[in-house]
Amino acid sequence: MELNGQTVLVTGGAGFIGSNFILYLLEKYKNLKIINLDKLTYAGNLENLKTVEDDPRYSFIKGDITDPAVVGQVMVGIDIVVHFAAESHVDRSVMNPAEFVMTNTVGTQVLLDAAVKHKIKRFHHVSTDEVFGSLPLDLKLKFNEDSHLKPNSPYAASKAGSDLLVRAYYKTFGLPVTLTNTSNNYGPYQFPEKFIPLVITNLLEDKKVPVYGQGINVRDWLWVKDHCRGIELAITKGRLGETYCLGGSEDMINNLVVIKKILKIMGKDESYITYVKDRPGHDLRYAIDSSKAEKELGYRPTIKLDEGLEMTVKWYKDNQGWWQRVKTGKYQTYYKKQYGDMG
Ligand code: NAD
Ligand code: DAU
Repeated sequence: MELNGQTVLVTGGAGFIGSNFILYLLEKYKNLKIINLDKLTYAGNLENLKTVEDDPRYSFIKGDITDPAVVGQVMVGIDIVVHFAAESHVDRSVMNPAEFVMTNTVGTQVLLDAAVKHKIKRFHHVSTDEVFGSLPLDLKLKFNEDSHLKPNSPYAASKAGSDLLVRAYYKTFGLPVTLTNTSNNYGPYQFPEKFIPLVITNLLEDKKVPVYGQGINVRDWLWVKDHCRGIELAITKGRLGETYCLGGSEDMINNLVVIKKILKIMGKDESYITYVKDRPGHDLRYAIDSSKAEKELGYRPTIKLDEGLEMTVKWYKDNQGWWQRVKTGKYQTYYKKQYGDMG
């Protein structure tokens, strides 16, 4: 499907990936309109979209996706929905699962109802590889579109519920949907509760960096703009009702290795590494087999981790005001609760 000429509702567009996606679309497509519906939770930040706030193609509505009245109004005149809005941090889902079920599962169902009612041309659902659970440290094993749902955290379970609802609305109501399940993103505008920006900003503050357990957990790191491109491809080239798994470009890089790479880029030694209590239900390894997306969509990540980390460190160095404003107030309360007196 063609994106130019469409009106696109982006939910959660003030968050990390949603804001990168809006900037990506506005740069690439001259003739499209974007409406950003976001509740502005602690993770939503309109500063991310400062460069486009006066762009006539872009508008922002503050609202909650769990509110059928708001969603019903916003859906009028929309052609395509790209659904990012979610509670996204696993550690917070351990502290407060209910909020995750409400936004991620119920919120998705509210959006789906409105999308059916307003005969939306496409509903694209942005989901995660965490719905598939955890892999052992065996290079041969990867998640793909046929992997079983085996979520291990309330976050992952709430996202798995949303994936199933999207599928059901395709089968039952004929809503034209596509889905993507993606690995760990990193890059500009990521909230510093997540691993990579937490490590970088702590080091910029000359603070220790917390490693859960032994640091042997493996993630499949994906540069955020490569994810945005993957979503664009799924919308423009994907088959209706299909799921596409989008992975990063490297295998078997554990958390300790990621920290050491960042320490090297920032010219710091390993004394900053602090081992802390492990996350309950901590998934050991994620890895995605993207071959379906490669074959059907032409998806291919372009940025390797070393290059992406260099760019990410540079971004956080160049945008100290952005993260310093975010790391105040409620963030400090959360940090203390999660990490105690780690420093
Ligand atoms: P984020 O936490 O940075 O942003 C989430 C956004 O959703 C925020 O702007 C927040 O204000 C908004 N939001 C939360 N609850 C809302 C509600 N009830 N109504 C309206 N808006 C609400 O998240 P992110 O990292 O950008 O992730 C975006 C999406 O991508 C999520 O669905 C997540 O599950 C998925 N995903 C993330 C990753 C990753 O590595 N970050 C990987 C794969 C998939
Ligand atoms: O795989 C996709 C998922 O990636 C997304 O669906 C989630 O929204 C996103 O938050 C991310 O989940 P993770 O739990 O993998 O990301 P996080 O950045 O929280 O942690 C990455 C790894 O680093 C994980 O093994 C836990 C570890 N970690 C994390 C933090 C915050 C630490 O060792 N120390 C920390 O302080």
